[in-house]
Amino acid sequence: MASPVLAQPLLLGMMRLLEYPELGEPQALLAFIERCVERGLNGFDHADLYAGGRCEAHFGAALRLAPALRQRLQIIGKVDIVPAEQDCSRWQVKHYDTSARYLREAVDGSLARLGVERLDGFLLHRPDPLLQVDEVADTLNDLIASGKVGWVGLSNAEVLHCQALAQRVPLRCNQIELSLQAQHWVWDGSLHALQAAGLQVLAWSPMGGGRFGERLCSALSEVAAELGATANQVALAWLRELPGRPLPILGSLRWGRIEEALLGAELALDRPAWFYLSEAARGHEVA
Ligand SMILES: NC(=O)c1ccc[n+]([C@@H]2O[C@H](COP(=O)([O-])OP(=O)(O)OC[C@H]3O[C@@H](n4cnc5c(N)ncnc54)[C@H](OP(=O)(O)O)[C@@H]3O)[C@@H](O)[C@H]2O)c1
Repeated sequence: MASPVLAQPLLLGMMRLLEYPELGEPQALLAFIERCVERGLNGFDHADLYAGGRCEAHFGAALRLAPALRQRLQIIGKVDIVPAEQDCSRWQVKHYDTSARYLREAVDGSLARLGVERLDGFLLHRPDPLLQVDEVADTLNDLIASGKVGWVGLSNAEVLHCQALAQRVPLRCNQIELSLQAQHWVWDGSLHALQAAGLQVLAWSPMGGGRFGERLCSALSEVAAELGATANQVALAWLRELPGRPLPILGSLRWGRIEEALLGAELALDRPAWFYLSEAARGHEVA
């Protein structure tokens, strides 16, 4: 398998960036980003969709205060979702757009809001049923050649979605919802297929967006007590045991939760504990 495109214990998701009043000023966000980098966390996952571009813009405002910091960061961008309110047609419909023109303009928009010249990683946010492989491949290869994008990948793509495009573009990762609460990739062979295709898996909502059910929370606490760890650390360890060692994209930007996740980054689960948690989440034992 190709070496992972991102080698770090966690990525930080920027979808909820505006939910933290303590990060509301660019200076405070800059201090946060610097603290992350000092702790070895330099990957930040963005999308033009998040708060309609305002998450990118806020991040950009912080970076403009310390331009030299940019070169220490790995910034990921995602585009192709057009919310209904941004659809200028008479249909005003939420849709996906992977046309060459849309992708180029969307990348330029993200670069401008972030105030950077390049997205280190660039992902197609959702599989577009109207995607034209040659057009998209040419566009992605041009974006790489122009230096506006470092490497490309997919998001929310099933294995079949990856195959045709991968013949024309070097795809590096697939960002998928993956957690104890979102396990279908674990059981249908998808993770092995993605690994065989050389795609690093980035796991979004690794804590289920904070909505793990009661039975799962109690199982996590039991295992945590047994291992002298915390429930959050155990939930992330469950992910790391999977084929290809998926990289969690943490959504919480509370420093305590980030530090907790980092401190548990080496925690391992044995098979019985892993299956115990899987069963608690799925509600039934394996066959
Ligand atoms: N590609 C895609 O389609 C896609 C879709 C969704 C997300 N993403 C990416 O994935 C990132 C993470 O998504 P997410 O925010 O849903 O991830 P998450 O880490 O599963 O959820 C974080 C949320 O859960 C809450 N939470 C509650 N209890 C928690 C606990 N014990 N530990 C940690 N968090 C807890 C957090 O609240 P507090 O603020 O109180 O900590 C926060 O609101 C996003 O920022 C985005 O970059 C990608």
